[in-house]
Amino acid sequence: MNRTKNQDAPKTFHVKSFGCQMNVYDGERMAEMLGAQGMTAVDDGVEADMVVLNTCHIREKAAEKVYSDIGRLRREDGSRPMIAVAGCVAQAEGAEITRRTQMVDIVVGPQAYHRLPDLIDKAAKGEEALDTDMPAASKFGALPDRPKQPRPTAFLTVQEGCDKFCTYCVVPYTRGAEISRPWGAIIDEAKALVDGGVREITLLGQNVNAWTGEDAKGHAQGLAGLIRALDRMEGLERIRYTTSHPNDMEDDLIAAHGEVAKLMPYLHLPVQSGSDPILKAMNRSHTRDSYLRLLDRVRAARPDIALSGDFIVGFPGESDADFEATMSLIREVGYAYAFSFKYSPRPGTPAADMDRQIPAEVMDERLKILQARISADQLAFNQATVGKRTSILIEKPGRKPGQLVGKSPWLQSVHVYADGARIGDMIEVDIVSAGPNSLAGELAGRKEAA
Ligand code: SAH
Ligand code: SF4
Ligand code: F3S
Repeated sequence: MNRTKNQDAPKTFHVKSFGCQMNVYDGERMAEMLGAQGMTAVDDGVEADMVVLNTCHIREKAAEKVYSDIGRLRREDGSRPMIAVAGCVAQAEGAEITRRTQMVDIVVGPQAYHRLPDLIDKAAKGEEALDTDMPAASKFGALPDRPKQPRPTAFLTVQEGCDKFCTYCVVPYTRGAEISRPWGAIIDEAKALVDGGVREITLLGQNVNAWTGEDAKGHAQGLAGLIRALDRMEGLERIRYTTSHPNDMEDDLIAAHGEVAKLMPYLHLPVQSGSDPILKAMNRSHTRDSYLRLLDRVRAARPDIALSGDFIVGFPGESDADFEATMSLIREVGYAYAFSFKYSPRPGTPAADMDRQIPAEVMDERLKILQARISADQLAFNQATVGKRTSILIEKPGRKPGQLVGKSPWLQSVHVYADGARIGDMIEVDIVSAGPNSLAGELAGRKEAA
């Protein structure tokens, strides 16, 4: 179904992001850019003049979802919005998308979305609008400054791309080579966010701990240096970062966990498998043992740190013994949280062509076992915080009247009734109960006062 050609330029837009936090960040930057062009954001995709689907290619299910989402944008009268496919599916599939469906007007990759306004003009004229370049000059310089946004937490992408080439993963192909944004641009963006009311910043990168740069004095710095600079920023209360690769976990970053007050005690450090032969086949370039020793050092620097990870079950060749090695690693670490996935063969990745692909039923069974253990550990971690007094940053209203929801330093959601407290406040609470996904807190001191 084609839109009629030579349409009016769209006036309203809707951006929908899937996948990782970096896509969420990119979606925000796209929305800000379209806003700066005079377009108005609307909540409903079908009613918008134009829709950006900011897609994820990491697993087959995520990538295929795009096509059903596109279908849902058809209106009752047979018309539809102008549709742009952005993100990692755009990069991976390119012109294949417009061959597969006539409902897409624009295809724009993750390193080219600063050119979206031009692509919209082209599409409105009925011209081909495809841009999956990975230009040498970073898109960030071409984006408008971030508008003031009164909200307590924000993402800030500092690093992009990946050079690790794990054999199952599409990211090095969809996001390109590792690049670090310059120090000054990051500090300026953080300042603008904090001036607008942001109190917690999460630094993002596909390999965020591979960030390198030079500070204002020209001294070489790593992520720890950047974190220490942000620690000195008045008004900013909390710093987080994700996702890290075990091989880029430098000594000074580990030390920062024990020394930087605003750096939250939480580390997402994916391991994927607990079996050395599988780690080798994955090209992870760390072993089970080197990963565990790394965690020992992190825990020595910050004993109360919450650890989270990513796991893939059913990688080609994974035997029962390999899977058991993953389970024993999970038991040994005791994760506060974890993401786990069935292996999904991705086009163009080496693992997709490996022998001994694992049957779906075996993957299902292994995932069930793994997730049961992770859930139990998560509940245990949450229960261990009962009785503690801690600060929470209030992020949103709760479902019940008068209830507020904040995050603990360990990234747990905490429900609390706190008269007079507002979104963006940091308050002290006593944790009184814990479930698998959230905690309940009471305003500290309230009990005694009553
Ligand atoms: N850069 C991060 C994570 C990138 S993708 C890292 O290196 O850890 C997020 C997670 O998706 C990965 O950690 C992995 O667990 C999972 N993943 C990536 N490719 C996958 C695939 N082909 N099948 C299943 N899970 C996959
Ligand atoms: Fe993918 Fe591995 Fe790079 Fe992470 S480190 S993005 S899993 S290739
Ligand atoms: Fe998905 Fe791309 Fe992120 S593939 S996980 S959106 S980097």
